Amino acid sequence: MQIPTQLPTAAPTYEQRLQTLSEASVHQHFDAFKDIAWDDPAYAIDPQDPRWILPKVDVLGRTEWYQSLPQTEQIRIGLYRQANVTKVGLQFEQILIAGLMNYAFSLPNGSAEFRYSTHEATEECHHTQMFQEFVNRSGQPVHGGSLLFRAVAPFLPLAAKWVPFGFFYGVLAGEEPIDHVQKSILRAGNDMHPLLQRIMQIHVAEEARHIGFAHQYLEHKAPRLKRVERLVLSLLVPVIMKWLCNEILVPSKKARKDMGIPKHVMKEVYWDSPESQKFLRDLFGDVRMLAESTGMMNPASKRVWRAMGIDGRPSRFRSEPASAAA
Ligand SMILES: [Fe+2]
Ligand SMILES: [Fe+2]
Repeated sequence: MQIPTQLPTAAPTYEQRLQTLSEASVHQHFDAFKDIAWDDPAYAIDPQDPRWILPKVDVLGRTEWYQSLPQTEQIRIGLYRQANVTKVGLQFEQILIAGLMNYAFSLPNGSAEFRYSTHEATEECHHTQMFQEFVNRSGQPVHGGSLLFRAVAPFLPLAAKWVPFGFFYGVLAGEEPIDHVQKSILRAGNDMHPLLQRIMQIHVAEEARHIGFAHQYLEHKAPRLKRVERLVLSLLVPVIMKWLCNEILVPSKKARKDMGIPKHVMKEVYWDSPESQKFLRDLFGDVRMLAESTGMMNPASKRVWRAMGIDGRPSRFRSEPASAAA
């Protein structure tokens, strides 16, 4: 009998995976003010620049209403819209940073979660600076999320202490849609503004780790949930996903007014038309895959996913591009 000379390598433990993520954060990270040449004339924001016109991959940009507007209006709305999404993104990041601090506060010495959480918070601080700088330079009077969202924002980070499992699903609800949208814009390779392109490239590169951590965390903690907890969370997850995704993607009342989007267009885009329904379902392929592997999918919760309009086939692997078919 032949004795194998090499033992099969064991799968890395949760702690080892977090260590790898932490080391990656040390070796590759970005500084909001060092790694973006804000004052490069090529990066200047000109509010008349046609590159602010929303791309076709944007649900609003592809509507007949938007397409039929005069070019100056398309540019004005495009810049406002991109500044507003950026503002909501940074508000989410502020909540995430506060939540990570709440979570890390009671972790024991030597915890791999402590180290990674603080790396993530550091990176998110840079993102908030880079996003805010973009908003400032855009000159747009954007407020970001809805009034309700901004009112509950100071309380959301408490969830990280009390229901961390739900909180990290909420993190994905913020990170997955933004990441998905930014990746599809970058993939589409339009003639986009180089400043926004640079910001998106940096963001996509670092978000991959953050999303990776949330996935690792949830997969690690899922088997430790009590049965009732698992059931309640499984019903809440699709609701959290849809609510937070709406906060990011659907313009608030003020934004709607400032951009002058008619009511019927709002209804069609968010989320009555078949194209936008497909877009919405596609955003959550990776989250559905995770929901399967963390025991969050059962007959009752599947109904909630469907009621929220975010059901569908789970991704087979992370960042799998969605099929063209609806
Ligand atoms: Fe971020
Ligand atoms: Fe992030």
